[in-house]
Amino acid sequence: MKAVGLTRYLPIDDPASLQDLELPDPGVPKGADLLVRIQAVSVNPVDTKQRAAREGEEIPARVLGYDASGTVEAVGPDVTAFAPGDEVFYAGDVTRPGSNAEWHWVDERLVGRKPTTLDFTEAAALPLTVLTAWELLFQRMPLHFDGRRHAGQTLLVIGGAGGVGSIAIQLARHAGFTVVATASRDASAEWCRRMGADHVIDHHQPLPEQLHALGLAQVDVALNLADTDRYWDVLGELLAPQGHVGLIVEPRGALRIGDPYKSKCIGIHWEFMFARARFRTPDMIEQHRILSRVASLVDAGALRSTAHTSLGTINAAHLREAHRLLEGGGVIGKLVLSGW
Ligand SMILES: NC(=O)c1ccc[n+]([C@@H]2O[C@H](COP(=O)([O-])OP(=O)(O)OC[C@H]3O[C@@H](n4cnc5c(N)ncnc54)[C@H](OP(=O)(O)O)[C@@H]3O)[C@@H](O)[C@H]2O)c1
Repeated sequence: MKAVGLTRYLPIDDPASLQDLELPDPGVPKGADLLVRIQAVSVNPVDTKQRAAREGEEIPARVLGYDASGTVEAVGPDVTAFAPGDEVFYAGDVTRPGSNAEWHWVDERLVGRKPTTLDFTEAAALPLTVLTAWELLFQRMPLHFDGRRHAGQTLLVIGGAGGVGSIAIQLARHAGFTVVATASRDASAEWCRRMGADHVIDHHQPLPEQLHALGLAQVDVALNLADTDRYWDVLGELLAPQGHVGLIVEPRGALRIGDPYKSKCIGIHWEFMFARARFRTPDMIEQHRILSRVASLVDAGALRSTAHTSLGTINAAHLREAHRLLEGGGVIGKLVLSGW
């Protein structure tokens, strides 16, 4: 089968950093695995972090890639929820071979049925980021998706135009929040508004002044989706007493978790989308449930795909371009690739 992978960890401008490969077909799936014929993928910063230049060699080659959509070709003996022919989308498991391959094994508990109103490319944009945002908002934080219970509350999204921000804005709006997103360019600010942000402010300018200009002295919830260290102090200042901060990016240094976080009783919540798969937690099937719910919401018109730029077919040159763009830090929405 065709695949794209690496044998050495090289800078992305080196053509050998990601290579076109011909690998043996994967064979019959075992246990709770599905064998999926990959139709489309999207690329995330985690792909670039896994590929980042360092010592080490992979023999056989290592295949990366997490977000995927495709068609179930065969199922393992323990599979109960899927059958051959089902169209699916998922983000998979960072500890297993990736989805940048024509065929891929994935545990059915991590998989959802693809929204019927999206094509494979639009669907591949969603899983990793929607799982991140959903788990963070509604499973790590004590927030509620249904019933608009957060009407009257304000949620700040740092990095609103990124992959996670684009879907977090949509989920928070649905939950009733007034959403303030940050973006530093006209194009990324416009995209945040398209995703449903009520207000957009610039993360390169001081945040408190911009919020005050909107009549907002504080925010109830802040999602720091860009740089944990850089916004730590200002979010401590901006968060309301008993508010919540959500984090998804590894900090570079130690964080001072005392005042003002302590005196305001601010909840600090970490999300790592691969935690359930990596530690094989007993509730792994939650990701199947979340993706199934998201597919219904998309088909009902309540959520939309965050696909922004299609880079063409799935091959090494196009994946290197995706990694290069992501490493530049200015991607809007999701980068998607489809077909072989
Ligand atoms: N823990 C988890 O489970 C998990 C899951 C997914 C992602 N992540 C991590 O979360 C981060 C974001 O992921 P993503 O997929 O959303 O990335 P992304 O799509 O590459 O984000 C790009 C966006 O980030 C914004 N940005 C760049 N520098 C910024 C800064 N200093 N402050 C605020 N915004 C900034 C840019 O906005 P402008 O162009 O407007 O400046 C751009 O639109 C990555 O580090 C990723 O590895 C973690």
